[in-house]
Amino acid sequence: MNMKTYLVTGAAGFIGANYIKYILKMHDDVRVVVLDLLTYAGNLGTIAADIDGERCVFVRGDIGDRQLVDSLFATYAFDYVVNFAAESHVDRSIENPQLFLQTNILGTQNLLDAARRAWTKGTDACGYPLWREGVRFHQVSTDEVYGSLGAVGYFREDTPLCPHSPYSASKASADLFVMAYHDTYHMPVSITRCSNNYGPYQFPEKLIPLLIKNILEGKPLPVYGDGTNVRDWLYVEDHCKAIELVLREGRPGSIYNVGGHNERQNIDIVRMSIATVRRLMTERPELRRVLKKQERDAEGQITVDWMDERLITFVRDRLGHDQRYAIDPDKIRRELGWQPETSFEDGIVRTIEWYLTHQEWVGQVISGDYQHYYERMYGGR
Ligand code: NAD
Ligand code: TYD
Repeated sequence: MNMKTYLVTGAAGFIGANYIKYILKMHDDVRVVVLDLLTYAGNLGTIAADIDGERCVFVRGDIGDRQLVDSLFATYAFDYVVNFAAESHVDRSIENPQLFLQTNILGTQNLLDAARRAWTKGTDACGYPLWREGVRFHQVSTDEVYGSLGAVGYFREDTPLCPHSPYSASKASADLFVMAYHDTYHMPVSITRCSNNYGPYQFPEKLIPLLIKNILEGKPLPVYGDGTNVRDWLYVEDHCKAIELVLREGRPGSIYNVGGHNERQNIDIVRMSIATVRRLMTERPELRRVLKKQERDAEGQITVDWMDERLITFVRDRLGHDQRYAIDPDKIRRELGWQPETSFEDGIVRTIEWYLTHQEWVGQVISGDYQHYYERMYGGR
């Protein structure tokens, strides 16, 4: 058996948690060490059932902590590092850019250095380090590093980097460091740049879970600007499959764009979310018990009559709001045979059903800093 040991950072967050669930399910011969600082975006409850202290071990800590990361490499002899840990929300990066440099750039560089120390022994005739066989550092990046598109065109791997937000600038910088370690030290690295993800366990500051939460509460649905901005949505498990494929079979030193040709204007996402919640509540009235805003009809039954597009509220636009993201996923399809398996129509229903039936999870993750953040962002609305 060829056991592989993974260091997965940031796996108490949205995509990392879905990823470790996926690899633990897919492979018998893996061991996973999760390193997560448990910031506001991390929730141990999300992965509590996966952590057994053997196949899956949890360590609370900062990817920027040199001593800690070195000691993990010494203890576990990792084959793979998959770096999800990041500050990931554009709006928060506009509020506090420095934290994004700290975590996303310096944290990534600290992991790269620890991997270099642990995975190399001696040098070749030209002075390049000799790397342990079979190791790989995978950086989970974003399409936002390419900036914004006009009405036509797609991001390809050779599209010039042109980030606009502090978040995307920090992710682009991290990508440049990852590639610099490949070019300078011949480190076996790979990068995936994915479009917007949606699915279970996403923190309700991002568009789709925020909409679901507000619909249940009967609160206004904040649409930035005129709602015509376009995002290219991918179901989270399809992203996890792409990462695993690139990690194991992608060319070292290579970047792969991940997306599913699923472009939607924000306003359409909002309309679809309202319609889907409403439809599910109509088909399965027992789900209405999770409604925080409860109005009753003449028979005393909870109604959903108030749940419609009157909830939509156009608010001030995000500063520097990128107009359109769209991925050309041809390279990963051609080289590795990856393509998305979940249509948006299925994925959005699955996601909304998951939120409706996991309200205790939502309650847990918003118990901390969330209320203060919401007040700052959206005022009393
Ligand atoms: P998330 O915000 O849900 O989770 C981030 C996790 O990282 C949290 O568990 C948090 O506690 C942890 N973390 C933060 N700072 C840390 C530190 N210093 N040390 C250790 N752990 C730390 O993010 P997500 O949406 O799951 O995104 C994961 C990765 O995927 C990020 O790198 C992000 O840039 C990238 N990405 C996200 C999307 C998306 O749509 N969400 C799309 C493309 C790429
Ligand atoms: P978001 O989920 O924050 O992801 P990203 O900024 O990384 O694309 O936002 C998705 C889109 O939805 C983006 O164009 C901003 C918009 N948006 C709103 O209109 N209202 C909101 O309350 C939020 C959080 C986002």
